[in-house]
Amino acid sequence: MSEAAAAAAGTLRLGDLAVNRLGFGAMRVAGLPHIWGEPGDRAAMRGLLVRAFELGHTFFDTADSYGPDVSETLIAEALHPYPNVLVIGTKGGLVRPSRHRWDTNGRPEHLRRAVDGSLARLRLERIDLYQLHAPDPEVPYAESVGALAELQRAGKIRHLGVSNVTVRELEQARRIAPIVSVQNQYNLEDRSSDDVLSACEKAGIVFIPWYPLGAGRALRSARVKRVAERAGATPAQVALAWLLARSPVMLPIPGTSSIAHLEENAAAAALRISREDIATLE
Ligand SMILES: NC(=O)c1ccc[n+]([C@@H]2O[C@H](COP(=O)([O-])OP(=O)(O)OC[C@H]3O[C@@H](n4cnc5c(N)ncnc54)[C@H](OP(=O)(O)O)[C@@H]3O)[C@@H](O)[C@H]2O)c1
Repeated sequence: MSEAAAAAAGTLRLGDLAVNRLGFGAMRVAGLPHIWGEPGDRAAMRGLLVRAFELGHTFFDTADSYGPDVSETLIAEALHPYPNVLVIGTKGGLVRPSRHRWDTNGRPEHLRRAVDGSLARLRLERIDLYQLHAPDPEVPYAESVGALAELQRAGKIRHLGVSNVTVRELEQARRIAPIVSVQNQYNLEDRSSDDVLSACEKAGIVFIPWYPLGAGRALRSARVKRVAERAGATPAQVALAWLLARSPVMLPIPGTSSIAHLEENAAAAALRISREDIATLE
């Protein structure tokens, strides 16, 4: 495994920041299976984060709700002081009253506290990418986005992103502040955000597909296995290479708590799948 393998996917720009196009999803460094509490082995998860950077992932995705707080804290423990090229995208707007709950809270006062909490845990003066995790049905979307736009003006946030949005919500957010990224579920098995992806392409906004491996499910289909065999690759590598080929604005963030899977996924950056293989996967 060559060092910086993830760099083979090329780069794209999140606002004024260049990142390698294959990122890392740091959700699974918190306690599993519910993304709750501390991981079984903190040192191992710190090592995994360091290895992810060594492998060329220069964009890390996290959120205050992963643990909660655990993923952000471990990222700082593993990588602070941060290398210049590392861009951390975090998220706020979800709270975890228990291991089974992911409740929305998009109230401005909550978001202001959440941003301060992320700044402290990540040991940053400004967050490079802050994403509103999900619209809160109890709070007008414009109020939530407006609160983050204010925090951006106050210098606490460099760039704003949104997550789990429709095209309409994206347009609403863009009327309030510049939006550099959208993070929605998207993978071989779930393409329900195709319309949002098209809107991102038109507007030059980065699309960050969550569950890029379908949380493992996208790897079990017969089509994916067939293409993997033909390409001399693994199903996970095919799922990631398909995403990279699907759109130039795509920035996949595969997640894992295993070094072997991390290395396998980073190597997908160099995999180019043929037109025939893409057709098989359509
Ligand atoms: N915005 C949102 O609402 C939202 C929601 C969910 C997730 N996310 C973000 O998206 C990122 C990715 O999501 P995710 O980690 O849940 O899903 P994923 O990347 O689609 O899949 C991860 C799952 O696949 C397994 N896996 C990883 N690499 C593999 C490989 N090479 N071969 C076989 N299995 C493999 C992992 O298990 P092992 O640990 O055993 O490798 C894990 O169970 C998260 O880290 C988070 O940053 C965002």
